[in-house]
Amino acid sequence: MTPARLAVLLSGRGSNFLALAEACRRGEVPAEVVLVLSNRPEAPGLVRAQELGIPSQVVPSRGVPREEHEQAVVAALEAVRAEWVCLAGYMRLLSPPFVARFPNRIVNIHPALLPAFPGLEAQRQAWEYGAKVAGCTVHLVDAGCDTGPVVVQRVVAVFDDDTPEVLAARILEQEHIAYPQAMRMLLTLPWRIEGRRVVFSQGGGGQQGELP
Ligand code: GRF
Repeated sequence: MTPARLAVLLSGRGSNFLALAEACRRGEVPAEVVLVLSNRPEAPGLVRAQELGIPSQVVPSRGVPREEHEQAVVAALEAVRAEWVCLAGYMRLLSPPFVARFPNRIVNIHPALLPAFPGLEAQRQAWEYGAKVAGCTVHLVDAGCDTGPVVVQRVVAVFDDDTPEVLAARILEQEHIAYPQAMRMLLTLPWRIEGRRVVFSQGGGGQQGELP
């Protein structure tokens, strides 16, 4: 199988990018990260990419009109012939034309069990709400904020003596499993979209594609 060409868009730390890149390198996800793109020049994820020898690029967004910024991002993605766009802590909403340019080929990870707690600081939202379980969601991206069809969700317990930071760390561990798992499923199993549902044709539903 020819490896799929993934571009990762990030704005910060880059731990989900690293988890994906490592899973690709181990052969667990039949893909190659061909570009790490950040809208923030100071994003630590860019340094991680350089350390791994993965091409990286900054397309600054500060002070740039949205349309102009997105056109530059799309040009960068086209230049590397990216087939999939993996958002990993990318702190920008994508406009409908951008989403339409990669139909059902943009994936995001969100640190909550959507549709609960969309938006910023999702782990803190869950903790403040008093939720007894929390988790993460990998979903296809549509033009809304954290609204696209769900691919994988993983659940963690919330304990009474948690802090938002402790809970976020517990969720992050699961994120690093969920993102590679979702990409492996999307790239290796037949799937289709039925309404809001991503339906995988093989297996019994739920969490197929578990990594070894
Ligand atoms: C993760 O919690 C992810 O779910 C959210 O942003 C954070 C990015 O972390 N969308 P990292 O940069 O991948 O370490």
